Amino acid sequence: LGAFAVPASAQNYPTRTITMIVPFAAGGPTDVISRIVTAHMAQTLGQSIVIENVVGAGGTTATTRAARAANDGYTLITGHMGTHAASVPLYPKLAYHPEKDFEPVALLAGTPILILARKDFPPKDLKEFVAYVKANAEKVNAAHAGIGSVSHASCELLNSILDVKPVGVPFNGTGPAMNALVAGQVDYMCDQIVNAVPQINAGTIKAYAVATPERNPSLPNVPTTTEAGLPAFQAQAWNAVFAPKGTSPAIIATLNAAAIKALDDENVRKRLLELGSVIPAPANRTPEALATLVKNEIAKWTPVLKPAS
Ligand code: MLT
Repeated sequence: LGAFAVPASAQNYPTRTITMIVPFAAGGPTDVISRIVTAHMAQTLGQSIVIENVVGAGGTTATTRAARAANDGYTLITGHMGTHAASVPLYPKLAYHPEKDFEPVALLAGTPILILARKDFPPKDLKEFVAYVKANAEKVNAAHAGIGSVSHASCELLNSILDVKPVGVPFNGTGPAMNALVAGQVDYMCDQIVNAVPQINAGTIKAYAVATPERNPSLPNVPTTTEAGLPAFQAQAWNAVFAPKGTSPAIIATLNAAAIKALDDENVRKRLLELGSVIPAPANRTPEALATLVKNEIAKWTPVLKPAS
């Protein structure tokens, strides 16, 4: 058998349209990253990749569906730090396990987390923000994309550092949550940079800090949390493609190669970088590197996050 064991379906793959499930609303960070990268992957693969936004339960509804899909390479999911790590401690009865039920395909982008607020939220800088939310803990609210989402998990970390429990306002993604922030309907949010750069540049929201060691080149005027006086809050999310467990190694290799080609494309890189994403270094682009990331991220978030009550 050996090299001849690859089934004909894998050898010819792909012969029809691929569905990429995005577990959040259109227009949010996971959707935007998926669309930028899969448009290029589709050219490489010679088949369309259709994005299907499946919302609910902080991304876990869609991720459950992807885990149960046929493992033939025609249903994939763009998961992230929430669906494939933070959801594990938050949902003791999670219907899938990120490591046992998926084949890692490729990391697409790192996404630094920003502390954001509505434009007319009173605090002017991060120090004032900290004092304000502590003093008004009963009144302030924080938007997020559902329990287990990146925005929820990263704000849980922030809120635990500040020892506050704001009212959470869930949305089906931070695309709609951002609309509510711009409209002044919610107070603050911890969100992935991709969603925030256009709004910060348009002056429609406030950005207090980026939770990474260095400033982001797309937002040179936004201080780091360390510069702004809250070094304990460090958070960077990531988005990555996964296939259902048992998808053939040949198909995974084909998809991984297409994703890497997209990440090396000048236009793809330009669009991802303009939105503040961190493009994975070559060593971090393999399925094995993604498997390690998932394992490490589950270990990192498990002591931080308590099951939703
Ligand atoms: C989205 O695309 O809406 C986000 O990735 C949601 C989140 O996890 O905060």
